[in-house]
Amino acid sequence: MKNIDSQTASEIVIFGAVGDLSRRKLLPALFELDLAGLLHVDSRIIGVARQDYNNEAFVTFVMENLTEFVAKGDVNKLDKDVVQRFSSRLVFQKLDFKDTASYKNLGQTLSKEFFSRVYYFSTPPAIYGDIGDGLAHAKLIKDSDRVVMEKPIGHCLETSKVINDQVSRHFKENQIYRIDHYLGKETVLNLLVLRFANSLFTNNWDRNCIDHVQITVAESVGIEGRWGFYDEAGQMRDMIQNHLLQILSLLAMEPPADLSADSVRAEKLKVIKALTAIDRNNVKEKTVRGQYTDGYLNGGAVPGYLNEEGANTNSNTETFVAIKAEIDNWRWAGVPFYLRTGKRMPAKHSEIVVHFKKQPLNIFQDSYSDLPANKLTIRLQPDEGVELQMMNKIPGIANQMNIHENKLDLSFSQTYNNERVVDAYERLMLEVINGNQSLFVSRDEVEAAWTWADSIIEAWKSTNDAPKPYAAGSWGPVSSISLIARDDRQWVE
Ligand code: BG6
Repeated sequence: MKNIDSQTASEIVIFGAVGDLSRRKLLPALFELDLAGLLHVDSRIIGVARQDYNNEAFVTFVMENLTEFVAKGDVNKLDKDVVQRFSSRLVFQKLDFKDTASYKNLGQTLSKEFFSRVYYFSTPPAIYGDIGDGLAHAKLIKDSDRVVMEKPIGHCLETSKVINDQVSRHFKENQIYRIDHYLGKETVLNLLVLRFANSLFTNNWDRNCIDHVQITVAESVGIEGRWGFYDEAGQMRDMIQNHLLQILSLLAMEPPADLSADSVRAEKLKVIKALTAIDRNNVKEKTVRGQYTDGYLNGGAVPGYLNEEGANTNSNTETFVAIKAEIDNWRWAGVPFYLRTGKRMPAKHSEIVVHFKKQPLNIFQDSYSDLPANKLTIRLQPDEGVELQMMNKIPGIANQMNIHENKLDLSFSQTYNNERVVDAYERLMLEVINGNQSLFVSRDEVEAAWTWADSIIEAWKSTNDAPKPYAAGSWGPVSSISLIARDDRQWVE
């Protein structure tokens, strides 16, 4: 990765600067970049919001959040020089996002010098169009400027097209950065290295050698005070349409010609387009949707989804999804990718398990009657690492061939001396500043992902089945076990 160049200062303009994403992720990410010396000395951060702040109040707000999210409550842990430098970069601009005329005020706050600008839309997507119109009206968009769009981009294919069209009125595709923060995670990026820097996996990565793949993204958290937003989306739109499909496409894509945005995104797109459609004819066999009920987690009682604060007790929204996904191409025909993700599961735990095929013949019958297949586990979070399960001889003289299952375990924290795991937003923010789109999602990918997801959502609607209940603190509804058991396989727990 290129380091930030020394000639170009940026103005990072955050719309929705006092919102949740900004305070938890964006401002801390920018602070960490400053700490690491990766922000140009003249770069500025312009917080834009509807709320009544002035510069001073905004600096106080930012410091409170850095204390909470960077220093974990202890302000003394923040480097004083960096705090001073960072504070001096901060400027606040109050703005009514829908009032085109008011953008001239923003124009006065922005620097007149030729800084490259990053406009970060951290607002509800429904107003991305208004912001674009306002910026254009005030003549605040230059060819070198970039815009970052947070997910969800739309609620379905149609609405995502509307949002993309609105933003494209003022920004060209090479200026638009659609964030899927999973693409900034260290371990998700490592998928590229694992696959394409190790011939062992390059050559065995197909239907001839792999039996099936499991991708689990489990979260122990529930809805965390955002019931209204979440209920409109559900786990399919919130996690599968974006994060899980991105992981799947990196895992399954053909080798890109290089690491450029065009090459990587073109290969990912082919995978998403090759996913077998799931519709009302096969939706019951290939998917399970669930909703958590009252249960226990970490030793305490937790309310079910319908008993959360602000809940509408009739909601049929899913908080868990399991899918048997298949990719119709030469490499993967016949290899299922089982996806599973849910809220209020026993732990935060995300991993990919690649199950290789079994040996055609077992010549170790005497000591091991049922030779297991090799398994490659990629631990995405927490305890990031890669683990290869394999058979090994137990040393000893008494028995000529005493063998057992063991593993090669590459734990990142042990191997890299507990190096801090960089937050996804830090990396992605830096990539935007550097103008590298390869870790961002193209419009075509977003639309292909919606096409596949919409068909499933439509099929669920047409069957009108309620989501299957699962107790908070469990691994999902029993039918998700049957989904994989029907193929004589089981989830790795
Ligand atoms: C977000 C979803 O995109 O990702 C949240 O909207 C989810 O519902 C979050 O909790 C998970 O991200 P992470 O980085 O904690 O795995």
